[in-house]
Amino acid sequence: MPCDWSQERPGMALPPTVSWQEGALVLVDQRRLPHELVLITLTDYRELATAIEQMYVRGAPAIGVAAAYGLALAARQALPGSASQVLQMVEQAATRLRSTRPTAVNLFWAIDRLLSVAHSCSHLPAEDIAQRLLQEAHRVAEEDLQANRRLGHFGAQLLPDTANVLTHCNAGALATAGYGTALGIIRAAREQGKRIHVYVDETRPRLQGARLTMFELMTDGIPCTLIVDGAAGFLLRRGMVDAVIFGADRVAANGDVVNKVGTYPLAVVACENSVPVYCAAPLSTVDLSVPEGDLVPIEERSSEEVLWIGQERIAPAGAQAANPAFDVTPARYITAIITEAGVLRPPYEESLRLAMRGTRACE
Ligand code: MRU
Repeated sequence: MPCDWSQERPGMALPPTVSWQEGALVLVDQRRLPHELVLITLTDYRELATAIEQMYVRGAPAIGVAAAYGLALAARQALPGSASQVLQMVEQAATRLRSTRPTAVNLFWAIDRLLSVAHSCSHLPAEDIAQRLLQEAHRVAEEDLQANRRLGHFGAQLLPDTANVLTHCNAGALATAGYGTALGIIRAAREQGKRIHVYVDETRPRLQGARLTMFELMTDGIPCTLIVDGAAGFLLRRGMVDAVIFGADRVAANGDVVNKVGTYPLAVVACENSVPVYCAAPLSTVDLSVPEGDLVPIEERSSEEVLWIGQERIAPAGAQAANPAFDVTPARYITAIITEAGVLRPPYEESLRLAMRGTRACE
């Protein structure tokens, strides 16, 4: 079924990040938030590839959902045409979409899933293949929403009745099909009657924390305070934080977490101060084919993102800047990985493997 924001969406007063409306893909333009809530309508998978690169849509699960719809879109673009023309267009789209962002594994996971549906129904008429792909994309979106609700429920139980939580980047409804991963835990804790206040890292250079997480939390009426990334250590040392919760772009087989740059120092300082560090991620973010986090490709984005804030250049003309978009947090700093299968604890090789197999491996 299509995502429709006229449906009741408890805990989420925003339209869905990614939705399918009248044969087109509709995205919330996350670059314009929090100042403007603008929806963009895409009818060509190439437009989606550009939108992912330019971060109109971002956040690992949301990128995966968008890519799934992108392949459904590609199939429709080949109509009216033969089944083999549809498959060819879908393959082309898969190749282009795979090239957009290298780190979030949900992108590759969703593309593989849709391609496997396309190949399994290649004997059907072209219209039916396109329809099957759209149905699968709807399933990817719906499963992500349900996974977030489940992991939110598990994670909320780990928080005290009154808690200060610190989060990094945006792992909210905007980064997923809805509800969020790290913010899903916060939403679920509030639904369980807990009193939660959130410290939000601004998350340089793209300011996903300041722009998106603050917007989501304030829209939902969740108490929150913005801090600069460098202030996190001070708060942790002062005992002002009860838990650190962040999302993931990829979780390696050994439990190393690849997430927005700045996550690693945050986790190290939290451990140093005996504050629990929780990674919230659906199983679609787990990549058992990668043995450890240092083997995950880390996206290097334009230095302009560092040298400028908005329209203002903040470094001298000619300054160089490095801009790794993600970092790797070794598993030893992660207290638990919270998934829709439950709360996973070390040793993660074992608990992740069992969770991926569908075996109960967790609390
Ligand atoms: O560069 P971004 O904004 O796509 O990075 C997003 C993150 O790092 C998120 O924390 C991660 O994708 C988890 S989103 C549920």
